[in-house]
Amino acid sequence: MKLKEKRAGPSGKLGPVPQLELRETVEQDLAFVLATEADPDVAPWIGCWTRERHLEAISTENEAHLVFCEREQTVGFLLLAGLAAPGHTIELRRIALSRRGAGLGARSIELALGYAFRVLGARRVWLDVLETNGRAWRLYRRSGFSDDGFAPNGHLLSDGSSVPLRLMSITASAFAAPSGRPARLSS
Ligand SMILES: CC(C)(COP(=O)(O)OP(=O)(O)OC[C@H]1O[C@@H](n2cnc3c(N)ncnc32)[C@H](O)[C@@H]1OP(=O)(O)O)[C@@H](O)C(=O)NCCC(=O)NCCS
Repeated sequence: MKLKEKRAGPSGKLGPVPQLELRETVEQDLAFVLATEADPDVAPWIGCWTRERHLEAISTENEAHLVFCEREQTVGFLLLAGLAAPGHTIELRRIALSRRGAGLGARSIELALGYAFRVLGARRVWLDVLETNGRAWRLYRRSGFSDDGFAPNGHLLSDGSSVPLRLMSITASAFAAPSGRPARLSS
């Protein structure tokens, strides 16, 4: 079975979670995705792609491009990468919400990990995050991610300096274990 076929049910919706759902991105979502990437409160923390690169991610077997919806309104997007790599290790490459600081962060990570582990069959999910992005790495830690140290060269900036890049990961068994989940999500 192709990876793209495994991901969504016939409706394209992926498991209802109170108020927030995850579904595959379609071309009509890209205006939202590009605007979210360009938001001055988001842009410093994530990579920024062209519309063409996003279209490629929608169609390739190696990446999953998804959006978060709250009552039919699109409130964020998610990129997963490495789907076709051996070892069932998937990268949470990018996550961004348009409605931040409203309690959607924890639920969006829960949905992202549920998708990676249950739908895509990942055994481990990893990510890197700028050390200066405490809003994100605290959320990952509370969501069950472990600290795996720092990338050797950090994240290089255009002026030649670098910012420490924290590496984090979570296994399927840690995600499934009650202790691996934030208390407010396991109730
Ligand atoms: C990262 C992101 C997905 C988190 O979602 P969110 O709904 O805004 O997150 P929350 O409101 O749950 O906040 C997460 C935690 O960070 C804390 N926080 C909020 N703003 C913060 C800041 N400026 N600095 C440090 N911590 C901050 C919150 O208090 C919360 O911690 P708590 O639950 O212990 O109180 C979202 O903020 C976002 O899209 N950010 C821009 C893109 C980005 O950074 N993506 C991640 C790249 S690795």
